[in-house]
Amino acid sequence: MKAITVTPGTPGSVSLRDVPDPTPRTGQLLLRVQKVGICGTDMDIVNGFYGEAPAGSPYLILGHESLSRVERAGPGCEGFNEGDLVVPTVRRGCPENCLNCRSGESDMCLTGHYEEHGIKRLHGFASELALSDSRYVVKLPESLSEVGILLEPLTIVEKGVQQAFRIQNARMKWEPSTALVLGSGPVGLLATALLRQMGLDVTAVARKPAGTPKARLAASTGATYVDVRDVPLSSMEGKFDIVFEATGSTAVALEAQNLCDTNGVVSFVGIYKSQAGTEDAGKVFTNLVLGNRVYFGSVNANISYFSKGATDLVNIRKKWAGFLEGILTNKVPLDKAESAYGPKGEGDVKTILEMGSG
Ligand code: BGC
Repeated sequence: MKAITVTPGTPGSVSLRDVPDPTPRTGQLLLRVQKVGICGTDMDIVNGFYGEAPAGSPYLILGHESLSRVERAGPGCEGFNEGDLVVPTVRRGCPENCLNCRSGESDMCLTGHYEEHGIKRLHGFASELALSDSRYVVKLPESLSEVGILLEPLTIVEKGVQQAFRIQNARMKWEPSTALVLGSGPVGLLATALLRQMGLDVTAVARKPAGTPKARLAASTGATYVDVRDVPLSSMEGKFDIVFEATGSTAVALEAQNLCDTNGVVSFVGIYKSQAGTEDAGKVFTNLVLGNRVYFGSVNANISYFSKGATDLVNIRKKWAGFLEGILTNKVPLDKAESAYGPKGEGDVKTILEMGSG
C-alpha cells in the first residue's frame, strides 16, 4: 500500500512510498483511511524537530488526524461493522501503566513514555490502510463524512475548554459570559465555534484583516473578530472570563495572562518556541495571585473528548452551515501528498489529504 513516511530528525525526508499492508491482531480494527489532516505538529516532524519511528522501523508513517472506514472488524472488535465511519484517538498509554494511563486518561500520562500514532513510536494513519486498537476508536454519523476529519483538532479544544470549566466550577461559583480566543487557525476557529455554541460572548483575535477567510469564518459564528494590528491586545486587559490561547506564539502567550478578568482562567494549547524573558515576572505572579487567576496547559485528548467532540461536530455543523467545510480549504490527493507538506497559501486554513473515496 501507499504511505506517507518521514525519517524522524531528517528534514525534507517526507516521501510517498510503498510499504507492506498491515495485519490486524485480535482487538485491532483494519481501517481504510479516507482523509488525513495536516497540522503544526506534522510540520515540526517533517522539518526534523519532532517525532520518533516505531522500534525497529527506519521510518514513521505520518498522520494523527484521520477519518476512516472500517475495512475489517475481526475478533475483539465487537460493536464495529465494515463500512463504519470512524476516528481513532492519537495516544496509547505507557508501558508502566501509570495511574492515569490505567484510568483511561493517557492524555494525562505521568511517565511521558506514552506512544502517539503518527508522532511517537506508532505509525500514523497517512496510508491507504491502517490499524487501531478498537478500544480507542469512535464511530461518527454519516453526516460527518466530509468534516469528521476535524474531530481530532476539535478534541484539543474540547479538553482545553472542559478542563477550564472543571477547574473553575470546582473552586468557586462561576458564571462565565465572555471568552477570548487567540489565534484563527483550525484550533482557534473550532474553539470559537465551541465557545459560541456554549452561549458565550466570544471575541476572536488574530493578525489578519477582517475580510480574510479565517476572519470571516470566525465572525460567521457570531463572534466579534478583531485584527490585533488595529486593536492591540493590551487594550483588552482583564476583560474575559476565559482566554483560550491557540496561536502558539510565545509573545502572545505572555500577553494572554493579562487578558482574563478577576477569577478568570487561561487555557494554553500551543507549543511555544524558546524565548528569553523580558516580562516582569513579579508582575505576572502578583497578577495571578491578586486576581485569583488560573493559567494551565492542556495537551492531547482521551476518548471521552472524542465522543463529546463527535456530538459537538454534529451540532456545530447544524448551527453554522458551511463553517466546518470552510476550514477545509486545501484538499490534496494522495499522489500529490508530498506537496501538501510545503508552505501554505495566504488564504489557506487547513490542508487535508484525500486518501480514498467513500
Ligand atoms: C496532537 C496531540 C499530541 C500533541 C503532542 C498534537 O498535534 O494533536 O494529540 O499529543 O501533538 O505530540
